Amino acid sequence: MERKKHAILSELVAPEMANVHGTMFGGVLLSLLDKAAYVAATRWSRSPCVTASLDQVSFLSPVQIGEYVSVHAEVFHVGTSSMTISIEAFAEDLRGGERRTVCRCFATMVAVHNGQPLAVPALECRTPDQKRACLHGFLRKKLLRTREHELDLLEKRIAGMDDDSIEAALSDPGAGGLA
Ligand SMILES: CC(C)(COP(=O)(O)OP(=O)(O)OC[C@H]1O[C@@H](n2cnc3c(N)ncnc32)[C@H](O)[C@@H]1OP(=O)(O)O)[C@@H](O)C(=O)NCCC(=O)NCCS
Repeated sequence: MERKKHAILSELVAPEMANVHGTMFGGVLLSLLDKAAYVAATRWSRSPCVTASLDQVSFLSPVQIGEYVSVHAEVFHVGTSSMTISIEAFAEDLRGGERRTVCRCFATMVAVHNGQPLAVPALECRTPDQKRACLHGFLRKKLLRTREHELDLLEKRIAGMDDDSIEAALSDPGAGGLA
């Protein structure tokens, strides 16, 4: 049977999902995103998967109680054991309102066996669109690694600064190459 790489997960937003503003809690939506990513990754790898990271999470519009939320997840890039899943969530006012995008993000899911990463089948990279996605996914992963490394360096650098250097940098962040 052909492997699937999509998932759609939908839910009616109930009052117990509300935050103090009376709209949907971001964390509840994140949980749906994570589940949709899990389904897409597990369908593709046919192995149990864990979430390694969620990134570029943007909440674009509040979701009202009583709206119908749909989360669409798709395997976008495959490394060795990791899969990048692109995720988009929509909300719909069931009384005839328009469907709008409320969140976008990417998840990295890793296939595991006994807690250890397990190689997963590569995505096809033959048609022009597939090639575009392969290149985008590869370069995106590389960029994330660079950003992670740079943030690590920044944290170490700031942790190693004395109080005077911190004061000086706050008054002119560009001077020490910090901004
Ligand atoms: C994800 C996990 C299996 C990775 O294990 P590891 O021993 O670090 O494995 P590796 O370093 O060999 O990485 C395996 C793959 O995961 C990717 N990866 C690891 N950590 C990552 C992270 N934080 N973000 C994105 N990708 C990550 C690696 O790039 C690698 O990809 P590739 O195989 O396609 O090249 C392990 O860190 C883990 O079990 N984490 C907890 C997962 C979990 O409990 N999730 C739910 C949290 S609520």
